[in-house]
Amino acid sequence: MLAIYTHHIQRGVGEGLDPEPFHDDDIKRRRKNMLRRKLPHLVADRGGTVVGYAYAVPFRKRPAYRFAVKHSIYVHADHLHSGVGRLLLPALIEACAAAGFRQMFGYIDAANTPSQRLHEAFGFVQAGLLKDVGFKFGRWTDSLLMQRALGPGASEPPADDRYSRTT
Ligand SMILES: CC(C)(COP(=O)(O)OP(=O)(O)OC[C@H]1O[C@@H](n2cnc3c(N)ncnc32)[C@H](O)[C@@H]1OP(=O)(O)O)[C@@H](O)C(=O)NCCC(=O)NCCS
Repeated sequence: MLAIYTHHIQRGVGEGLDPEPFHDDDIKRRRKNMLRRKLPHLVADRGGTVVGYAYAVPFRKRPAYRFAVKHSIYVHADHLHSGVGRLLLPALIEACAAAGFRQMFGYIDAANTPSQRLHEAFGFVQAGLLKDVGFKFGRWTDSLLMQRALGPGASEPPADDRYSRTT
């Protein structure tokens, strides 16, 4: 997973280079932390090799946004465009819906056509264009905000939870 992530980040995908080098233990800790909070963290395996992974984190920390998640998906460079994303993304959507989330968001670099197409194929629509929001490799970059409803979406209120009476 670390190798997959590092490969793509060095090529300018996602949020760009991390200020600190990323280690195995960081991934392990993040994965454990997410699973403890019942946030899906999926790994695709092909013949014993990790060929991709996808996970969701809270869209925002404030409690009002507790039914919205933001996700990431990365496929191994040697397995691109061979159907891994097509397996991972719907599995992640299903896991997020099953966990009770109602909206799912992804920020995608506007130049990242493969990711944009993959997301469109699974029901994501463009919710916004953030102009010149990034600066990577010597140039300003735009991000697309893509969104998809999960389960009943906004057609019904969420099941009662510990915040329902106060927010
Ligand atoms: C975006 C990404 C996850 C897609 O996963 P993938 O396993 O390569 O995609 P799949 O083989 O499952 O293809 C699914 C669809 O995505 C689109 N797609 C994938 N690769 C593409 C490419 N090189 N050019 C155009 N569309 C592409 C197509 O619509 C494709 O459907 P098709 O098979 O009918 O053509 C993968 O390219 C990746 O990891 N990229 C680097 C990291 C990244 O950009 N992550 C997303 C950050 S928002």
